[in-house]
Amino acid sequence: MSERLDVARVRAEFPQLRESIRGKSLVYLDNAASTLKPVAVIERLDAYYRREASNVHRGAHWLSSQGTAAYEGARETVREFLGAALASEIVFTRGTTESINLVAQSWGRANLMAGDEILLSELEHHSNIVPWQVIAQERGARIRVIPITDAGEIDFAAFERLLSAKTKMVSISWCSNALGSIAPVEKFVAAAHAAGSLILIDAAQSVSSIPADVAALGCDFLTFSGHKLFGPYGIGVLYGKADLLEAMPPYQTGGSMIADVTFEKTTWAAVPQKFEAGTPSIADALGLAAAIRFVEGLGLEAIARHEHELMKVALARLGEIPGVRLIGRPERRAAIVSFLVDGAHPSDIGSLVDNEGVAIRAGHHCCQPLMKRLGVPGTCRASFSIYNTDDDVERLVRSVIKAKEFF
Ligand code: ALA
Repeated sequence: MSERLDVARVRAEFPQLRESIRGKSLVYLDNAASTLKPVAVIERLDAYYRREASNVHRGAHWLSSQGTAAYEGARETVREFLGAALASEIVFTRGTTESINLVAQSWGRANLMAGDEILLSELEHHSNIVPWQVIAQERGARIRVIPITDAGEIDFAAFERLLSAKTKMVSISWCSNALGSIAPVEKFVAAAHAAGSLILIDAAQSVSSIPADVAALGCDFLTFSGHKLFGPYGIGVLYGKADLLEAMPPYQTGGSMIADVTFEKTTWAAVPQKFEAGTPSIADALGLAAAIRFVEGLGLEAIARHEHELMKVALARLGEIPGVRLIGRPERRAAIVSFLVDGAHPSDIGSLVDNEGVAIRAGHHCCQPLMKRLGVPGTCRASFSIYNTDDDVERLVRSVIKAKEFF
């Protein structure tokens, strides 16, 4: 593991950074929405489509068996990355959203009863709210909302007060995509289990900088998306404890997920195939494995340190601009900075800084309940990654100062 990131070398791995936007060099600060892709991932996809394309788990021919081995090898890479005991505990999905829908629809429909409670926090992304809401309505279960503190952290004491024998599922984000707050998930897992509840951790925003050791953490489910980890779009992961996955009914049905089919009755394949109906996104799984090897080569600790330094500079520099208000002051945070400019709508600031070649995100960040709690229509959000530099922070600051002149 490297001690410090060699940022110049890292930048050279990302061809998109050489693009110019509106005649200006790109400053990409929308990493919480999606990270850019390194050559290793692009080349893995290219190699698959040029030389290896073939369906998996079915063909008798060489390409298919090579493809199956590579696809299952990618699952093994994810297993190791997450510290899971078994490869069968790793289900490939389209991303975090599909992973949570899978658990809500499959586990939820089989297990939730009228009066049961699901605890979600106030800062959750819509993908960790709506799937639960839909299944709760169907089953007569109830969503209880864990409030956040004024600093923007999930209120652990309030969480403990909400836990009861009725709690059947707790589903929270390890890291808030809007505020960057990092939850002490170990404490949440222990408390949920002590109350007899299961717990799902949405690691979409944490996975690129916080090691997710599921065996040590003991969570029941964990989800993440490839595209926030320098990997391809349309691929993600659901980790689930083997006994839970084995007991759960399928989420989608069709080819590849069956043991035996007659017109009267179908039996299911073993996990994880039971949850992977149809032809999977093979190239994207291989690309995800390449992305994991890429971040492991850099070292999650070095990544976190680099991003943390940038975030500290950004907080300090934005905080000293008169009329700029930082939103959320969590004690432990990832490299995500939300802010507002007095008198300006976040979208207008987003467009104005974009004119300077600086890509940030503006809006509610798929967290409308959180925005209501904060009393804001949305925020401007700058999120930092391995290829960002102090110069990028300065370009952001200068573009915000320039944008402010319009208001
Ligand atoms: N969840 C992504 C974001 O925070 C899309 O921007």
